[in-house]
Parts: sequence; structure tokens; C-alpha cells
Amino acid sequence: MIVNKGRNKKEKKIFAPKAMVFAKSQDVDCHTALILIRQIRKKPDSILTLPTGVTPIGLYQKLTEAFEQGLDFKRLKIFNLDEYWPIRKDNSSSYASYMLNNLIKKTNLKKENWQIPNGEAGDPYQEAERYDFLLKNTQPVDIAVVGIGPEKTCHIGFNEKGSTLDSRTRYVFLSGETRRANAVFFNNPEEVPKGAITQGIANILEAEKILLMAKGEVKAWGVKRALKGLINSDAPASFLRCHQNVIFILDKKAAVFL
Ligand code: F6R
Repeated sequence: MIVNKGRNKKEKKIFAPKAMVFAKSQDVDCHTALILIRQIRKKPDSILTLPTGVTPIGLYQKLTEAFEQGLDFKRLKIFNLDEYWPIRKDNSSSYASYMLNNLIKKTNLKKENWQIPNGEAGDPYQEAERYDFLLKNTQPVDIAVVGIGPEKTCHIGFNEKGSTLDSRTRYVFLSGETRRANAVFFNNPEEVPKGAITQGIANILEAEKILLMAKGEVKAWGVKRALKGLINSDAPASFLRCHQNVIFILDKKAAVFL
């Protein structure tokens, strides 16, 4: 199959991700947590890429429970997918605060083993380069967990429409749709930053295994577009079909169009 890589067209193998559909959204959390817990048990110094947002909150609760029951996070390494720019780390809506409050402070994860783009960096382009370098030098990521943007955004990380298969960590502008969807995390929609630093599609696809979590009808169009539509930059999540080890973990509302 030919995948549209922006201006260049390149032969690329295409795969069919496994889709697991659960009756309840909590089962999406439980199943994703189970895969991560098994991975951490098998390889305590695993490297994970993790998302933020509404979808994985229950996943982080399950991981916290696993820690309370004895799972050791001491050697685990975490890379976040993205962070707004500019944003202060101590802003309660930053992804840095989200991770601290939902996972890092609740387990024995070592702060030095956790990486997230710096929303306070003076130059977002330089910061993206630094983060990309760090990722490249810590490869391979064992499991990348991603969410999917709502409605027709179909983004993964903050790879909005127009992102290419070979895109790497970079500074991006957020679409109006994404800013509106993410306004729930801010006191005032005007406060949602206009930009972000995100891992690119190529970074995400470098992980050994990828789990996409999606819940609710608001994700149903994007899930179908990603799994069944054309593989191109109009729907960045569709590029996940260029990886041979991807599982879509869905509740039945997100799977309604499959
Ligand atoms: C967040 C991220 C985004 C979200 C997506 C879904 O780190 O990378 O791609 O995963 O916007 O967000 P929620 O889960 O809030 O619907």
C-alpha cells in the first residue's frame, strides 16, 4: 500500500490493529493497566510513553492501586507524549501537574526517571530538539499509551491534521477544536495555550507496542477513521496502522461505528 507521507509517497507495510471492545469504560482502564502491570513485573526498568487527558485518569488510579499492593515503580522510566507551551509547571492545568498529581506523587516513581517537555522553556523549538534527543538516546520505548482527539481531530499526542508519518518531537499550534475540547481543564477557555510540544508520529511508532485508549461517542468517528479510513495526514491516528503491534482498547460507545 502507498502511504501519503506529505509530499513524498513511500511504500509501507500496513497492519490491522487488534480492537478490544469493553462494555464499560472502567474495563478500558483495567485492561490497559493489566498490560502495563505485566510489563513492569516482567521488566522493572521498562520505558513507557504516557498520555494525559480525561481518558487515562482511571488507568492512573489502577496503577496507583497496583503500587499500593506492592508493584515497584522505582526503575520505571516515563516519557510524556506532550506538554502545552507556554505554561508554568505549577499551573494546575499543565500536563506536568497532571502527571505529578495522578501518578508520580502517588507511587515510588523517581522524578529523575520521568521526562516531560518543559512548558517553561524560553525557546519551544530548542526544547523540542532537546526532548527528541533524549528520547532517541533512551530508546526503545517498550509501550506507548496514547489517547485520540475528539470528534474529527483524530490526533494522537498533539499531532494535529497535517502531521506526517516521519514527524518527530516539535513545537505545534493547537487547532481550534483541540483548544475548545481541552478548555475543560482551564478556568477560562482563553487560558488554553495556543501551542504545545509533542512527540511526533515517528517517535510514537518507534515504541515496541502501542495501546490506544478511547471512551465515549465523542471518539467513535475518530476510531473508525483511524482503523478503516485512508492512512494519511487528515487523520494522524490512522498512521498507527503502519505499526505491527497496536491494540485499540475501546468502550462500546467509542466502537459504535466499527
Ligand atoms: C494528551 C494527548 C492527547 C489526548 C487526546 C484525548 O497527552 O496527547 O492526544 O490523549 O486529546 O484527550 P482526552 O482523553 O481528554 O479525551
